[in-house]
Amino acid sequence: MAEEFDDPFQFELSDDEKALLEDLPELSEIGESRRKFIAQASAMGLGAAAINLVAQEQLFAGLKEIDELELVPIAEENAVAVKFKVNGIEKSLTLDSRMTLLDALRERLGLTGSKKGCDHGQCGACTVIVDGRRVLSCLTLSAQCEGKSVTTIEGIATGDKLHPIQAAFLKHDGFQCGFCTPGQICSAVALMDEARNGEASYVTADIRSRGRSMQLSDEEIRERMSGNLCRCGAYPNIVAAVKEVHTGKPANGVAWQFVGGKKEETDASF
Ligand code: FES
Ligand code: FES
Repeated sequence: MAEEFDDPFQFELSDDEKALLEDLPELSEIGESRRKFIAQASAMGLGAAAINLVAQEQLFAGLKEIDELELVPIAEENAVAVKFKVNGIEKSLTLDSRMTLLDALRERLGLTGSKKGCDHGQCGACTVIVDGRRVLSCLTLSAQCEGKSVTTIEGIATGDKLHPIQAAFLKHDGFQCGFCTPGQICSAVALMDEARNGEASYVTADIRSRGRSMQLSDEEIRERMSGNLCRCGAYPNIVAAVKEVHTGKPANGVAWQFVGGKKEETDASF
């Protein structure tokens, strides 16, 4: 099988692939190895995708003669040094100026708790807390976080002690598959502070409450959590969990909680 690729030009490009190839500017500068790569990729049924890859690489990295199949690390072309705290620990990264906070957390720091659901600011699965405010990390550039403090789901608990919101999610079954849960929890934790600071939402009747702690109704909680989608439909239980921590009273008639991994009767005062 390997020798089939010794002479990559024995494979014919399709008409579409030839047209794409002709569209590439200054083809002669792409280099012999590139043409071999494209022909090889074509033989493997990857022709159009490979040509697009080369075109994108040219766009980002500029035309370069590369002897072997070697991708130019894009980060080196747009490098920016960023220092910020993640879960209380100082981090210094050199990364592409276009890298999102979500990608930096997941791909560079190995913090995969924050999920990439839509990557378009629509689902809330990537929610983290930056300087006390919840943000969508897929819409936040890492470079914007210079000098800031980022809290991800990995930094919500204190050692083995769950945050009250985490404990309440367990207690009320606020999840099913769990994919949306890190974002839901980060959102709910930041929401508590928003309520304490009297920050109005779209459904707040009296916006003069700003600066004073406010009691959130179910409608308020639903509205404030509406940026976090749950495909499993755990919404009623999520609202119950948030409400219980917010009010300090048992919600939905569930009068127990997890303490040290064990179920205990409770009056819901955490
Ligand atoms: S991944 Fe960020 S909002 Fe969906
Ligand atoms: S628990 Fe599955 S998406 Fe929310």
